[in-house]
Amino acid sequence: MPKQLSQSALLAWYSHQKRDLPWRHTNNSWKILLSEILLQQTQVSRGIQYWLKLVDRFPTPQSMADSEVDEVLHLWQGAGYYSRARRLHALSCRVCLPMNEGGHDGILPNTSSELLNLPGIGPYTAAAVASIAHGEPVACVDGNIRRVMARQTQSLNPSLKEVEQWAKANLFTADAGNWNQALMELGATVCTPRRPNCNDCPVASTCVGQSEALKYPQPKKLSKKRLDLMCELRYDSQGLPLLVKRGDDGILAGLWGPRMDSEINTESLTFIGEVKHVLSHRDIFVQVWLGSCEQGREPSTVALSSLDQKILALGGQS
Ligand code: ADE
Repeated sequence: MPKQLSQSALLAWYSHQKRDLPWRHTNNSWKILLSEILLQQTQVSRGIQYWLKLVDRFPTPQSMADSEVDEVLHLWQGAGYYSRARRLHALSCRVCLPMNEGGHDGILPNTSSELLNLPGIGPYTAAAVASIAHGEPVACVDGNIRRVMARQTQSLNPSLKEVEQWAKANLFTADAGNWNQALMELGATVCTPRRPNCNDCPVASTCVGQSEALKYPQPKKLSKKRLDLMCELRYDSQGLPLLVKRGDDGILAGLWGPRMDSEINTESLTFIGEVKHVLSHRDIFVQVWLGSCEQGREPSTVALSSLDQKILALGGQS
């Protein structure tokens, strides 16, 4: 059995060095849930402004359930991975159903197992929210914790199960919320992917992989998919673009933008350039074709993805 981390050293480091983040000043589980969902795919520095807007407009599950999903998407604009906004809205609707219809009367349940039963909440989010908001002694596992574990134990490619076992074995059960956050904070600020700062690490003494930290964990081979699209960018005589609301499936589901498809009829359109949009799991290339229309729409009134904004910026230059 490898040596355990010093729990007291990591907790003491966390209490002195943690970043002052707004969601660390609340124990409201709904607000903590919003932060955890945002932080899964949005950097902390950008996540803060979105979190502040979200908790201001949607302070309770009921306030979100009473709103249209479009409003949540609009608020999410620019944060990326919009399916999160759609799933969050669906989650709020489920929570606000009466108990006898499978809901929770508007109150987010407390335990990680009940949270896990809700749509859109996976093991990480359930454990993070239950431990941070209610102190439930459950370990959570994310990419930061996996990297700390891989270096501490010299594991090149630990499986999810191995990381879970390690996180469980090291959990500080008396204060699981701060413990989980301390591990994540260490991974985010000290035990970073490319420039680990081992001199400032409170648990360096148990870190077997320290001398070759960059070897652990090995990068996952990402087979990136390429998606080629064509876009019909039409403007009216006032210079407003034609925007359509996309259907409920696909990458830009529910968002507004110029019409895009794998193939469009380019008769009477002019090619103006290509926009590249890089996501973690795919690269999107959009050929943009310019044309005219009767009646466009003011872009600031609808939810647009950053890909759509790039396309409109290209149109604005031509
Ligand atoms: N990353 C995601 N959630 C976090 C949290 N609560 N603390 C530190 N890093 C995080």
